[in-house]
Amino acid sequence: MTTPRREMVSVGSGSAPEGSRRPFGGSRGHRTGFKNPHVLGRREGRRSVPASKSNPPKAEAKAAATNSFLSVTDERTATNYRIPIQDGAIHATDLHQIRTGADDYGLLSYDPSFANTASCRSAITFIDGDRGILRYRGYPIEELAASKTYLEVAYLLIHGNLPGKNQLAEWLHNITYHTMLHENVQKFMDGFHHDAHPMGMMVSTLAALSTFYPDAKNISDEHTRYQQAYRLIAKVPTVAAFAHRHSVGMPYIHPSNDLSYAENFLAMMYRPSWTTQYTPDPVLAKALDTLFVLHADHEQNCSSNAMRAVGSSHADPYSCAAAAAAALYGPLHGGANEQVVRMLQEIGTKEHVPQLIRQVKEGKRLLMGFGHRIYKNYDPRARLVQQLAEEVFAVTGRNPLIDVALALEKVALSDEYFIQRRLYPNIDFYSGIIYQAMGFPMDMFPVLFAIPRMSGWLAQWIEMVQDPEQKIARPRQLYIGPLERHLDVSGVKTPVRKPSRTIDTRPKPAA
Ligand code: CMC
Repeated sequence: MTTPRREMVSVGSGSAPEGSRRPFGGSRGHRTGFKNPHVLGRREGRRSVPASKSNPPKAEAKAAATNSFLSVTDERTATNYRIPIQDGAIHATDLHQIRTGADDYGLLSYDPSFANTASCRSAITFIDGDRGILRYRGYPIEELAASKTYLEVAYLLIHGNLPGKNQLAEWLHNITYHTMLHENVQKFMDGFHHDAHPMGMMVSTLAALSTFYPDAKNISDEHTRYQQAYRLIAKVPTVAAFAHRHSVGMPYIHPSNDLSYAENFLAMMYRPSWTTQYTPDPVLAKALDTLFVLHADHEQNCSSNAMRAVGSSHADPYSCAAAAAAALYGPLHGGANEQVVRMLQEIGTKEHVPQLIRQVKEGKRLLMGFGHRIYKNYDPRARLVQQLAEEVFAVTGRNPLIDVALALEKVALSDEYFIQRRLYPNIDFYSGIIYQAMGFPMDMFPVLFAIPRMSGWLAQWIEMVQDPEQKIARPRQLYIGPLERHLDVSGVKTPVRKPSRTIDTRPKPAA
């Protein structure tokens, strides 16, 4: 089948229409256009096609400078294409030019669960999953965990650099003075059932906060964006602690401005209501703060993706954070820490480890706290959490589940099933054991993940809002349903026409 070249190069327009500038500045880059300057021509007698007459897209110019192109031959039409490679990726919309004819909208890439799709450019977190490397803004996680507080790291994630002395003082002041919840938020929380899961309360309360801060809708204003970042980072421990106090029927404890971030959270969790005298154990407060550092961001995971996807419709950051927290709640993501401890309790003793491994290998269950989409090596956070456990146990006494976990890890890491699939412990494998030793109820574990992840979500959200390449998140689909059918109004059954192939329901390009 042949395709007239004119059609192949004329899909859409390469220049952004008037008034298409984003509300936050910057142009849309080459995403707006489907201009096709890269068709090389038929395999026989390759004719060159003139490049775009408008400004060449950035990706194309950069690719041309380094001669980084992907040559693709479409066997259906015997046509070659030259697609620019930039930063190790091709632009998905460049596949759009690969068509079999005028009726064909163009090639899509199919990637359920985004296993191999970059949805953004990001300068926040770097992960090398094969080598087990994690860095925030370029700093190795090990260095940050050893010498920086969570709030310094939160500043780093959001602003791009570690704070100087004055910046830190201002940042701490802003966070400390936004920790209170409006009285009506407390009343809202009072309405939850006594046995509501704290993470459910957290998700709902984050969403409710958007109604208290209507100014947050003004996402194009930089000052407003940072204002919401202070509020969210400051208030999330208060919401978390109130959720716990509500679930155990204890009066809420208000934030204390003279305590550190982690100490304040521990005080709101555990301080008896009949006294103002409560000093959290410094070792436990430090360990919790380090856990917060380790959980602060993890690039484009399920919850960050939810934060960005919801934010791409210009929703306020409270609504976005509620969506992100809901994504985190699931047992495959931040809910895994709770499931790990439940699993370890079920195993009970080291002797029962082989039985669980057998069930996992038979496909009957997952080994919770194992495996990761990106890490195909030991999760560096899991190693640090394992080390931290000993420091915590020195204060709390040893949680016997750690021995079950260590035995489980040893068996799994030497088993072909896990070796072949490159499944290693992730952060959730050991974190729950520490939380349990520190006295947190199991259903608070995902909440303990959400508190520090708030800074990561906000950093991702701010980056997304400022990124001129980002538009509303809107994936495509491969339609596999009935082609067309009609309601039976006459009593005569209308046969259903099933598609013989995947149907493209998108608008046809202009010829
Ligand atoms: N136990 C047993 N088998 C597993 C596990 C596991 N925990 N994880 C993956 N596999 C198997 C999976 O069945 C598949 O086998 P096969 O090739 O025979 O079909 C293979 O390994 C590849 O797994 P996948 O499902 O394609 O991997 P994924 O990247 O889609 O999923 C994951 C990643 C984290 C959701 C998954 O490993 C999992 O469910 N782990 C348990 C839950 C967990 O610990 N989650 C916390 C993740 S870390 C914290 C965070 O950032 O959220």
